[in-house]
Amino acid sequence: MKHFLSIADLTPTELENLLQLALDLKAEWQAGGNKPILKGKSLALVFQKPSLRTRVSFEMGMVHLGGYAFYMSPDEIKMGGRESVADVARVLSGYVDAVMARVFPHEHILELAANSTIPIINGLSAYNHPAQGLTDVFTILETKGKVAGLKIAFVGDGNNVARSLLFGAMKLGADFVLTAPTGYDLTAEDYILAKEFSVGGATAVYEHDPIKAVADADVIYTDVWTSMGQEEEKAKRLAIFPPYQINSALVSHAKPDCIVMHCLPAHRGEEITDEVADGPHSVLFPQAWNRMHAQKAILATLLAD
Ligand code: CP
Ligand code: NVA
Repeated sequence: MKHFLSIADLTPTELENLLQLALDLKAEWQAGGNKPILKGKSLALVFQKPSLRTRVSFEMGMVHLGGYAFYMSPDEIKMGGRESVADVARVLSGYVDAVMARVFPHEHILELAANSTIPIINGLSAYNHPAQGLTDVFTILETKGKVAGLKIAFVGDGNNVARSLLFGAMKLGADFVLTAPTGYDLTAEDYILAKEFSVGGATAVYEHDPIKAVADADVIYTDVWTSMGQEEEKAKRLAIFPPYQINSALVSHAKPDCIVMHCLPAHRGEEITDEVADGPHSVLFPQAWNRMHAQKAILATLLAD
């Protein structure tokens, strides 16, 4: 694994190894602390958008593994404005051992990777969010004991988080259904790509009716209706997405032991109610905390000697 750009790029072995490493590094950390396997290694965290989880989980992940990480805010680099993305990649390649970048267009991630001599980690683009996707399947595996054979229902916008979850689910043999208002599904290309690497006959489909989508689901997942960069569409989206809110009535159609997930930040009262977010099915905070363990697995895989 040279970079970490999309779950779709990972071989089945690479994905299995990342999940096992996340489990091992979490257990090691819980038992008293990680070994300094990244001593002397450095990571630049380049953000073109806000973040809580991605910034802190990568930064603390590096610290726990003995490495060093530093944050660069959107105004510092102005990637693609003050300086070309390719030149940013070339310059950082001479200073640090890896770059984690959160960008607007996915092309910026691809351009960083194409022009760097060091690993690039995708910390979210408009297209996908693979560090989140890895955490999500890790959390499902940890909570349910398996991923294969489960039914995962994504309720809401067919966005970057949904796309990475689709890829992770299909690679691990879980059925995936996305329910959204007409026009907010993932693309046909996403479903075609996911089908190419689906394991054990796992399926991925769109279902307009949220009740049918969550019927007998093991996992119900949601994310904000308006992602970063789509702010001008907020009013329009707020008007059409309410039937796709995760509330107790919707959860009652899933399996009695279903888990409810959200990448966070949540807009409580919009895509998820307080009752569900803080209720017995919710794994929202263990999921957020797992970001750090999954991110450590990516860092160790790319950087450890
Ligand atoms: N889930 C996630 O990526 O959160 P942040 O935007 O806070 O990093
Ligand atoms: N879909 C959201 C995820 C935030 C972690 C966004 O891109 O804003």
